Amino acid sequence: MSYEFILARVEGKVGIVQFNRPKALNALSPGLMGEAMTAVETFDADPAIGAIVITGSERAFAAGADIKEMAQASVVEMLGNPFIDYWDRLRRVRKPVIAAVSGFALGGGCELAMACDMIVASESAQFGQPEINLGVIPGAGGTQRMTRAVGKALAMEIVLNDRRLSAAEAQQFGLVNRVVPVEVYLEEAVKLAQQIAERAPVALQMAKEAINAVYEMPLQSGLAHERRLFYMLFATADQKEGMDAFVNKRKADWQGK
Ligand code: CAA
Repeated sequence: MSYEFILARVEGKVGIVQFNRPKALNALSPGLMGEAMTAVETFDADPAIGAIVITGSERAFAAGADIKEMAQASVVEMLGNPFIDYWDRLRRVRKPVIAAVSGFALGGGCELAMACDMIVASESAQFGQPEINLGVIPGAGGTQRMTRAVGKALAMEIVLNDRRLSAAEAQQFGLVNRVVPVEVYLEEAVKLAQQIAERAPVALQMAKEAINAVYEMPLQSGLAHERRLFYMLFATADQKEGMDAFVNKRKADWQGK
């Protein structure tokens, strides 16, 4: 499929979605988000793909939702616009999704990275929620996910006073998995995705679902949910294969069944 605002390609078992609006610093217009989610959902449905990487350019992962497209909108238009649903659609992707972030990850760009499962950042990455400068607040999860990641005190500074986090700070506060030199950030993210993509596919999905349940359920319900998913995996061929491979000291051959 050919796209106007993104590039999509496959490396091994990894589907890579790259924002491609360099002149607008990858501002997330409805057109770009629509194409990006189509590509992500296509990879999610493809049995040959085990993990997905979302990235931008060295200068900008994404400088936020497209301000020019929103500037004149009325509240009724915003309410009737499915635009922010794209971020929710990312949350429903079943395969692991890694954001490879360099340069600006601001506003909706930061929210998009936080909606992914892991973040590999380049040393130049900068995370922030500058919506306060526009007279609004984050609308795609920024107040919720940032606060869960870095805690209330720092989240208040980030959202109320446009405090930006450097890559090193983002790692220190647990927002990103690792920080690597700019030249290799995408390569490192794809390498991590390839490693994950080699693992048992159904167990990967259940593991992701169980961890994400932390954000949606109280502890007792989360523990019960995890237990059910754990038991459910005993209905898969991969569980039999994985345990037999261990017992017989051989490498498991995952079928995703
Ligand atoms: N929307 C639309 N266009 C954007 C954009 C955005 N979010 N961010 C940058 N651009 C455009 C600029 O308008 C400019 O276009 P022109 O050349 O046509 O003027 C081009 O990208 C380059 O930007 P700058 O000249 O501003 O580059 P800079 O290096 O001086 O500054 C920046 C970079 C600090 C990222 C600055 O562009 C900036 O502050 N951008 C806006 C960041 C922002 O406020 N993001 C939040 C958006 S709202 C949101 O995301 C809501 C939500 O929660 C869903």
